[in-house]
Amino acid sequence: MRLSWLLGGLSVLSGASLSHANSPIEPSNFNVTSALEDLGVDVSSIPALKGFHGAKARSTDKACTAACSSLSYLFRSKVSAQDTIGYSSFTDSFWSVQQEEVQPHCVFRPTKNTDISTAVLLSRLTGCEFAARSGGHAAFTGSSSSPGGISIWFKDMDAVTLNEDQSVASIEPGNNWLSIYSALEPYGLATVGGRAASIGVGGFVLGGGISYHSNLYGWACDNVESFEIVSASGKILNVSETSYPDLYWALRGGGNNFGLVTKFNLYTIPAPKMYGGARTFTQNNFPQAIDAFINVANNASVDTHAQQYIAFFSINGTNIASAELTYTKNVADPQIFKEYRSIPAVSDVSSPKTLVEYVTYLEASNPFHLREVYWPITVQMNRKFSRWVVNTFYSMIPEVASIPGAQPVIIYQAVTEPILKKMSKFGGNALGLDGSKGPLQIMQISCWWLNESDDEAIYKFLNSFWDKVIAQAKKEGVYDEYIYMNYASMFQDPISGYGEANKDRLKSIAKKYDPRGVYQTLQPGYFKLDGAPVTRYF
Ligand SMILES: Cc1cc2nc3c(=O)[nH]c(=O)nc-3n(C[C@H](O)[C@H](O)[C@H](O)COP(=O)(O)OP(=O)(O)OC[C@H]3O[C@@H](n4cnc5c(N)ncnc54)[C@H](O)[C@@H]3O)c2cc1C
Ligand SMILES: *[C@@H]1O[C@H](CO)[C@@H](O)[C@H](O)[C@H]1NC(C)=O
Ligand SMILES: *[C@@H]1O[C@H](CO)[C@@H](O)[C@H](O)[C@H]1NC(C)=O
Ligand SMILES: *[C@@H]1O[C@H](CO)[C@@H](O)[C@H](O)[C@H]1NC(C)=O
Ligand SMILES: *[C@@H]1O[C@H](CO)[C@@H](O)[C@H](O)[C@H]1NC(C)=O
Ligand SMILES: *[C@@H]1O[C@H](CO)[C@@H](O)[C@H](O)[C@H]1NC(C)=O
Repeated sequence: MRLSWLLGGLSVLSGASLSHANSPIEPSNFNVTSALEDLGVDVSSIPALKGFHGAKARSTDKACTAACSSLSYLFRSKVSAQDTIGYSSFTDSFWSVQQEEVQPHCVFRPTKNTDISTAVLLSRLTGCEFAARSGGHAAFTGSSSSPGGISIWFKDMDAVTLNEDQSVASIEPGNNWLSIYSALEPYGLATVGGRAASIGVGGFVLGGGISYHSNLYGWACDNVESFEIVSASGKILNVSETSYPDLYWALRGGGNNFGLVTKFNLYTIPAPKMYGGARTFTQNNFPQAIDAFINVANNASVDTHAQQYIAFFSINGTNIASAELTYTKNVADPQIFKEYRSIPAVSDVSSPKTLVEYVTYLEASNPFHLREVYWPITVQMNRKFSRWVVNTFYSMIPEVASIPGAQPVIIYQAVTEPILKKMSKFGGNALGLDGSKGPLQIMQISCWWLNESDDEAIYKFLNSFWDKVIAQAKKEGVYDEYIYMNYASMFQDPISGYGEANKDRLKSIAKKYDPRGVYQTLQPGYFKLDGAPVTRYF
């Protein structure tokens, strides 16, 4: 079946969702060409589209030549072609090498929301795929850069403004947490946000967002007053608890599946000086360190100023645990960290820090330009199991010891009772977590290495590690299906982890606001509503 909603006969996206005539923002007779005209774009005057009658498949060179030439014609210096400095400044500045290797057809740097409307509509018109990048911290190929397509880089949309009573900060997606905290600090304010400088606001908030302040206020997605988004039809929507509330719910965990967010309007919080840093232990103290981790997590509602994670790894054959202990007030030795502090440490770099100082300090331990994978699971908090997993990790890492540069780390974080409670704020989020069984624990592997030829060995190793851990977790009845999107590997399906009901609801909301599935098909990168980015059997 064919639709005539695109110029010419582009048929790749038609067929789907024909019956969906009730979209509040995209009628069934939606006409991309006239939507572009409504934005002031005279399609018939664009040279690259003369004689262009649609492509037979998505993202062909022909389609993307038409799309990128059209963008260049309309936006001039905001568009960079291959072999230019503008282009390489984009491809060279991702966190992981896997994302840096991607070669888009062109890079588009919009300066306002309607620029993005035009790009999305041109993608629809030509069939050229796109991807969008905020901080570019997602690790795997194609997450925020489009192979052969249009890579939209928000870099020049970097405003941070406060509303009149300073209760809401309006943040454009070109910001990272260093730029946001730096802009708000002079006002004594911050938002619930990231813990390292260069993480972008975009991916972070749309997937959840674990902050130093989360025991006080919840995850970042639970502290959004409203989102301004560009819909698949190029409309600018204000999305809040009262305006498109279903979409507001979906954006709180649903990732890039519903639109491109052009403003994150986040509730502000006070930003007093904090205290914290890493305290490092040797292997003889691992059991005590794990006990301390569990006790701090279980005590989270007693003192919501504390935040922690603990990382286990090996340096030159010495096994180390590093606990990042953060207090959101300038207090050096709060009761809640007493147990940790009674464990002899080989080093402790704790000190008073502003948020700006904190994210700058943490940035240093997360170098750029390496091959990277993050890979998490979730379990119910359990002392015995946490110890078993660390022992299993250390028993298995010799398998990758000979791989150049391989540095596997396992990190424990808590989804505490106060965090879980805050998830029901403002009508709730899409994550499907509930606090009825007590605190949860995210166990995350982070690993970097040097050589592409070792990708397969690393992925295989991590898969076998998690297979073993998940089997044991199920046996002990502590396994939880939740997968944290912001840490998920390309082999995982976080949307399914939100539970069947939430997945179905997300899909029906996507259909309602994006009846042709533009954000599912023309923007294929990262986590879609229908399965893992890469399906394979190891
Ligand atoms: C060193 C490091 C430290 C980290 N620390 C934390 C932490 O403290 N807490 C935590 O919770 N997570 C943390 N993470 C994980 C982090 O939240 C994710 O990597 C997140 O995806 C990064 O967002 P980004 O905007 O930088 O990524 P990007 O790669 O730019 O984007 C990720 C995805 O979101 C989409 N996206 C981005 N912006 C928008 C937008 N405006 N509208 C629609 N879609 C958009 C992109 O298209 C892409 O698909 C960390 C990661 C790293 C590498
Ligand atoms: C879509 O709009 C354009 C420009 O307004 C018009 O020329 C074209 O005929 C329309 N297409 C359809 C199928 O209505
Ligand atoms: C969205 O909200 C902003 C700020 O409140 C307002 O200026 C703008 O006109 C609104 N946009 C739409 C499309 O409603
Ligand atoms: C590990 O060993 C190498 C080679 O001996 C040395 O250069 C490096 O500094 C050591 N790393 C640490 C963290 O001690
Ligand atoms: C935390 O928990 C431990 C043991 O469960 C308890 O002894 C301690 O007093 C608690 N600390 C705080 C700050 O509540
Ligand atoms: C990458 O692998 C090749 C071939 O196995 C090896 O010669 C090279 O030293 C490796 N590179 C690094 C940086 O380790």
